[in-house]
Amino acid sequence: MGSELIYRGHETQTASDSYSPKPVKPWASVTRPIHYLLREQRLLFVLVGIAIATLIFTIFPTSRPPGVPRHHLTTTIPDSITYFPIETQNKFSYPHRVGFGSANPTGKIPLGLKRKGLRIVVTGGAGFVGSHLVDRLIARGDSVIVVDNFFTGRKENVMHHFGNPNFELIRHDVVEPLLLEVDQIYHLACPASPVHYKFNPVKTIKTNVVGTLNMLGLAKRVGARFLLTSTSEVYGDPLQHPQKETYWGNVNPIGVRSCYDEGKRTAETLTMDYHRGAGVEVRIARIFNTYGPRMCIDDGRVVSNFVAQALRKEPLTVYGDGKQTRSFQYVSDLVEGLMRLMEGEHVGPFNLGNPGEFTMLELAEVVQETIDPNAKIEFRPNTEDDPHKRKPDISRAKGLLGWEPKVSLRKGLPLMVSDFRQRIFGDHKEGSNANNASS
Ligand SMILES: NC(=O)c1ccc[n+]([C@@H]2O[C@H](COP(=O)([O-])OP(=O)(O)OC[C@H]3O[C@@H](n4cnc5c(N)ncnc54)[C@H](O)[C@@H]3O)[C@@H](O)[C@H]2O)c1
Repeated sequence: MGSELIYRGHETQTASDSYSPKPVKPWASVTRPIHYLLREQRLLFVLVGIAIATLIFTIFPTSRPPGVPRHHLTTTIPDSITYFPIETQNKFSYPHRVGFGSANPTGKIPLGLKRKGLRIVVTGGAGFVGSHLVDRLIARGDSVIVVDNFFTGRKENVMHHFGNPNFELIRHDVVEPLLLEVDQIYHLACPASPVHYKFNPVKTIKTNVVGTLNMLGLAKRVGARFLLTSTSEVYGDPLQHPQKETYWGNVNPIGVRSCYDEGKRTAETLTMDYHRGAGVEVRIARIFNTYGPRMCIDDGRVVSNFVAQALRKEPLTVYGDGKQTRSFQYVSDLVEGLMRLMEGEHVGPFNLGNPGEFTMLELAEVVQETIDPNAKIEFRPNTEDDPHKRKPDISRAKGLLGWEPKVSLRKGLPLMVSDFRQRIFGDHKEGSNANNASS
């Protein structure tokens, strides 16, 4: 007993002698599962399972609700409110489109619920540009959620989508947080015309800064791609002409336009900081003057001013000497550019504008030609901080997005005139011809 307690070396010895390791079979990890599958026709079961799954996914490829015909989920835009000239309803395919589960790295959607179209938020989607963007996204087959507080937007701009299960409208102010499960965020919410953004400048800068922060926070949280609609106003009164994206601008930080200009500059900064710091996928568009149907009448922007004045037989008001220049882009060209930017691989910023440059007096002449050759021109003192020249250099967008505007001012203006005439005078015949123009 005593010796057993003291000496155990013999046990150790015996154990080590009796141990004989199994011979190593290097292919065991490969061959064992194959043998397993071949036994009792298990391979057959696996193949039959794959065949059944393939059949089900071929027959029911989308998550279309039962009873809803396929055509109800796509375009429901009546002809009379389609303002896209035939050439610009182009068939550009978006090679990088990704649906739930792939754009959204959090992969919260179970495999069986994968959908073909994207779920997209458009903030400011009831406004001028936003509503045209919504039309295109819905026509493409995506699900669109419009978030708008209707400060300058109108329900009428999107009500042709009411009843479409792919469309939702939320009355919401973007300065308040919002949680939605989406793949992409087009962030447009912000008054764009001087009359509106100067109305409450503190609210304007809050919309640009807090609103953008909220949407970037949402993008980060749900893994969505975020597109900011910035503006050519970030160049201020430019000392470089035409303006390239590399130009840092000449902006007055304390002027009456600063709430908008500096607000958008800060929004760009926040966008890049979320991209660099939090890995959010972002895109930045710098939009130059855009016109088209559904613009606010009397919003102080030069094209809508001239058109409304000419239609009402009032004189066209030209501020300053009328020699300041602007470029005018038709809205369908802009929407095409925004979608290409969102679907492409490049962050930007990208100038999106029409490089055709017009003085205010030349624009007034085109309006006279289109509406009323006898319309008079009236000169008024210029407003503070009105930039002298504005013309985009779009070589970056041409090269990297394959985008350039297609609709000339002389082709686009009549489409806008039809819409304005309809809204001012209730003239329905003119409006229904709005989609017949070509570039
Ligand atoms: N149209 C242009 O020429 C132009 C030029 C440069 C940049 N942009 C930018 O494009 C975007 C759209 O411009 P637009 O011309 O369609 O202007 P818009 O005024 O017609 O549309 C803006 C929309 O945003 C909504 N909105 C404003 N503040 C909001 C808030 N706090 N919360 C929720 N919704 C809010 C408005 O109700 C409206 O529907 C803007 O961000 C603007 O700065 C436009």
